[in-house]
Amino acid sequence: MDTTTDRFNIVQRIWYSIFPGTYRRPDDRHRYRRLFNSLLLHFRPRAIPERTLKFSLTWGLGGMAVVLVAVLFATGLMMKLVYQPVPDRAYASVIYLQNTVLFGQLIRNLHHWSGNALLLIAFLHLLRVFFTGAFHAPRQFNWIIGLLMFLLVLGSNFSGYLLPWDQLAYWAITICTAMLEYIPVMGGGLQKLIRGGVDIGPATLSNFYAIHTAVIPACLLILMPFHFWRVRKSGGLVIPRTPQESPGHRGESVAAIPNLIMREVVVALVLIAILMIGSVAFNAPLEAGANPGLSPNPTKAPWYFAGIQELLLHFHPLFAVMVIPLVVIAALLFLPYWRYDSDTAGVWFCSDCGRKMSMVAVVVALIITPLGILADEFFIDFAAWLPAVPVIVSNGLIPAIMALAGIIGFYWFVKKRFGATNNEALQAVFILLLVAFIILTITCIWFRGSGMALMWPF
Ligand code: HEM
Ligand code: HEM
Repeated sequence: MDTTTDRFNIVQRIWYSIFPGTYRRPDDRHRYRRLFNSLLLHFRPRAIPERTLKFSLTWGLGGMAVVLVAVLFATGLMMKLVYQPVPDRAYASVIYLQNTVLFGQLIRNLHHWSGNALLLIAFLHLLRVFFTGAFHAPRQFNWIIGLLMFLLVLGSNFSGYLLPWDQLAYWAITICTAMLEYIPVMGGGLQKLIRGGVDIGPATLSNFYAIHTAVIPACLLILMPFHFWRVRKSGGLVIPRTPQESPGHRGESVAAIPNLIMREVVVALVLIAILMIGSVAFNAPLEAGANPGLSPNPTKAPWYFAGIQELLLHFHPLFAVMVIPLVVIAALLFLPYWRYDSDTAGVWFCSDCGRKMSMVAVVVALIITPLGILADEFFIDFAAWLPAVPVIVSNGLIPAIMALAGIIGFYWFVKKRFGATNNEALQAVFILLLVAFIILTITCIWFRGSGMALMWPF
């Protein structure tokens, strides 16, 4: 090692006397910089296909999700300095944060709106990846990583929901964790584990706090770089093309700096501006402090679980809480590994025929779902019609088989009617279920009143 450090300034000489291992000869330093740059370039390509710069490919959604995670980490860490995760002090610490800490209300608002926005943006990003066929090889595993991140973001919003310890938080988490009871064999144990006991109390709050501020952030910090690295290893984003163009044509390449970076910066700045304006204008909700003796009527789950709460009114809880969500998650995980008739990567909605079929699926779902909800509310009552049959069969198995038969029937109908590939038919079924789920969610949020009865809100 070169020990002549005379040419360094006083700060450098002191530094190298403390950390001699960090001293490198100039050519060594050059090599280290190259190594660092090449590590960075695994995430940031030097050149990218010009066609992937089209805003209508990504809509900037992946980049927005990254910005929101950064805002959540920054504001979350700041709130951690004030927030106290014990029932008698949690609510008071949030009030203190809002009323006394400088910019406390703004920071809480930013965290609240960013958390909700992240769920929405990550879901829209999932839809864009699905509808541009970007889950096909070689991107299959990145779809899986994305799904895991989506579940983490869902978990983050859910665990954060309890932390203010107000009436809204206490009762929403009470009914959500009560749903676990319906899972056979392990439901009770799982509920006790999550609540940290039989009831919602100090152990629940400290569990949720640890999950929210340590477990989930750590998992996200591991998965996110993995996600970006997989994008890079798949040769960048999927190349957008028309249905007539064959895949594999990458077109011209342009330098990522400034072409890509400038676009990312603009999207980030616009998003931050919208978040700031929204957070100045609208405060995060905060009701009266939690009161375990006074349950509001109706007690509703957070908006992202409202669809499941609505399903509970139509299916036996075992199906609404466990069977249906698990089948959907399994189907999404398996999606990239299915055998498809054609390679649609880069083509929005598979083809022109795919677009038409998507419209048909939207219309069918818009008609069938509200009719189904009304029919089940006012006419259908399998439990009363078949008193000798166990409720799990009359209210669970029978409606589930009917729904499944409807979905399979729709798949074969559109496939035959449009002479479609299995990609196009599967996409139509996906849209049918998506629109149905959105309608269920809207119904629970706006059209359910006291006792969860249907009502007209306007
Ligand atoms: C916290 C959540 C997420 C973050 C921060 C994130 C971030 C990103 C970014 C920055 C990109 C590249 C730019 C873009 O496509 O917009 C990307 C691409 C991708 N993401 Fe995500 N993502 C998230 C969630 C998801 C989810 C939920 C899925 C799907 C289930 C997913 C699947 C993919 C795939 C397959 C690609 C490659 C797309 C292509 O090659 O065109 N990601 N993600
Ligand atoms: C994906 C990341 C995250 C999401 C989606 C998220 C979401 C949320 C939500 C929805 C709330 C409830 C806010 C309210 O209505 O009052 C919350 C509260 C909170 N979060 Fe996060 N958060 C995330 C990351 C973090 C991180 C990394 C930390 C700290 C290390 C953190 C610390 C807190 C604290 C202390 C509260 C309680 C304060 C309050 O409720 O106002 N969060 N979070």
